Amino acid sequence: MTHLPPSTPLIDRFGRIVNYLRISITDRCDFRCLYCMTEDMTFLPRAQVLTLEEIYTLAKAFAELGVKKIRITGGEPLVRKGALELLQNIGRIDSLSELVITTNGSQLETMAASLQQAGVKRVNISLDTLDADKFKAITRTGDLHRVLRGIQAAKTAGFKRIKINAVVLKDRNHMEVNDLVRFAVDNGIDISFIEEMPLGVVNRHNRADAYYSSDLIKADLARNFDLVASPEKTGGPSNYFTVAGSQSRVGFISPHSENFCSTCNRVRLTVEGRLLLCLGNEHSVDLKQVIRNNPGDMTMLKQTIIDAMAIKPEKHEFNIHEQPVILRYMNMTGG
Ligand code: GTP
Ligand code: 5AD
Ligand code: SF4
Repeated sequence: MTHLPPSTPLIDRFGRIVNYLRISITDRCDFRCLYCMTEDMTFLPRAQVLTLEEIYTLAKAFAELGVKKIRITGGEPLVRKGALELLQNIGRIDSLSELVITTNGSQLETMAASLQQAGVKRVNISLDTLDADKFKAITRTGDLHRVLRGIQAAKTAGFKRIKINAVVLKDRNHMEVNDLVRFAVDNGIDISFIEEMPLGVVNRHNRADAYYSSDLIKADLARNFDLVASPEKTGGPSNYFTVAGSQSRVGFISPHSENFCSTCNRVRLTVEGRLLLCLGNEHSVDLKQVIRNNPGDMTMLKQTIIDAMAIKPEKHEFNIHEQPVILRYMNMTGG
């Protein structure tokens, strides 16, 4: 085995540098959002899921390979016991510039301050509607008011930035995009609108019928807001606009209408320890086996990660007009 220099960059066949790792720390969630899951989900048995120690080891290996940003996702990451300690440990990895989290907001009311103290810099919070009944209908189990209190707690805790994620579905919440931007502006936070992606078979709606493009959203917003294109990037797929006269940015994540794969800088670790090279493909390498079969062997782990870059696909193949090719649900990877 060759000896690796400490900061070998991860580069794929297309010259893209991977410096962003998304880690799903649980497939479980207290919500059942209808674009993400079916109603009767079965979750993974404990033995199949990475332990917190294994997740930390993997985070460290990636950081030593030049990853600068780690985003913790789920399911709902904050329902996993020990999530906070894990975040504290990852937050102490020196070479990382950003530890961030994506959450449904249900636990933020009690956890926001501790997260901030653990070193989490930014939080992204899912919020598709400001109507309590619709919120219940979309999440199947969620309580809007609890999430709104969570957002307030995050504001009070003083994160560098807070972003709302809204998956926009025609005839369910598309008519609320102006209200959602108003909410973001009033609260001095950002918002990203997301085109739904076809992961897993969902049973409550037809994804092709529910498609509402970012261009339609922009046209709806233009009636109330002056959006100015911004060159700012957060390292994620959002294309940002600023809202004139406010602190807020409005982002558009448009996997269908404006493919962003050519600038992809990220890979994912699934809850089962699979290194997934693209959200919209199944190309992966089983890192759980590598660490369980070779405990303590960081060199082998890092070499496996470097080698995995060779199979990172050029782009996703999402097609909302066909049955999903990717049968994995979004909760395995947290998006
Ligand atoms: P920042 O830019 O760091 O704020 O975060 P982000 O927008 O990258 O992350 P977040 O977890 O908030 O994800 C928002 C949406 O972007 C989710 O629907 C993700 O599934 C989607 N997303 C993130 N990365 C990718 C990607 O590489 N490909 C695709 N197709 N979607 C992605
Ligand atoms: N398409 C697009 N976004 C999705 N999310 C969950 N499922 C989907 C999907 N099928 C979003 C959530 C959350 C983020 C991690 O991914 O709303 O904000
Ligand atoms: Fe849970 Fe997020 Fe999936 Fe909703 S989108 S069910 S909050 S993991």
